[in-house]
Amino acid sequence: MREILVAGNWKMNGSTTANKALISGIVSAVPEGSGFRLLVCPPFPFLASVANLLSGSKVALGAQNVSEHDSGAFTGETSASMLKDVGCEYVIVGHSERRAMYAETSVQVAAKFQAAQTAGIIPILCVGETLAQRESGTTQEVIDEQLDAVLDSAGVEAFATAVIAYEPVWAIGTGMTATPEQAQDVHKHIRARLAEQNAVLADKVQILYGGSMKGENAAGLLCMPDIDGGLIGGASLKANDFLAIAKAAAQSYTNS
Ligand code: PGA
Repeated sequence: MREILVAGNWKMNGSTTANKALISGIVSAVPEGSGFRLLVCPPFPFLASVANLLSGSKVALGAQNVSEHDSGAFTGETSASMLKDVGCEYVIVGHSERRAMYAETSVQVAAKFQAAQTAGIIPILCVGETLAQRESGTTQEVIDEQLDAVLDSAGVEAFATAVIAYEPVWAIGTGMTATPEQAQDVHKHIRARLAEQNAVLADKVQILYGGSMKGENAAGLLCMPDIDGGLIGGASLKANDFLAIAKAAAQSYTNS
């Protein structure tokens, strides 16, 4: 059975004081049970201090972006080996905000994915369609293009140490969550796409849902057969909201 991953993407939010309160709220009330994992992804300047706050807890640390290069003259960039050095186990790559606002291409995202793995960090590859793409019936093509860029450059075996997050762009930060059925359809498609090349591996890959996931809708999404967790934006910034999703994850694993 696949473990559930509940990952908080803090985006460009946080401060030394706020992070202390948020992390102590989370680590003091991690739900009992097994079969799920919690992860927080703060902005770069806070990674080292949040690593300290998390030490001894069951909550893992990740980053929100990474350079495709390992070192050198890349002003303003952060390499995967640096993320590893400060205690990151995961990094988000290809979030739709980076694709849309910073013009990251699928090829560049694939290079970031590989850079993370080379440094021993698990990439969380984000894929997802815009509302216009969904309405024009091209959701699967969009997802395939984003997925294939990584499959073509890294190979299907690379997904043995990677996570995928399906995040419909129209659901991110809008309060418009995909229905469990809409999300399940795409998750199933993603798994089938990987299964064309390696069915055993495809069955093991964690596929998270992201886009206005919160305590109230988490259980309905997490009980779908191909939804293995969540990538949470807004609701990861308040301990109680994040913990409500963690509780749904613990419950969902127990029920399955
Ligand atoms: P949201 O963000 O939960 O605020 O919709 C999700 C994400 O962007 O990862």
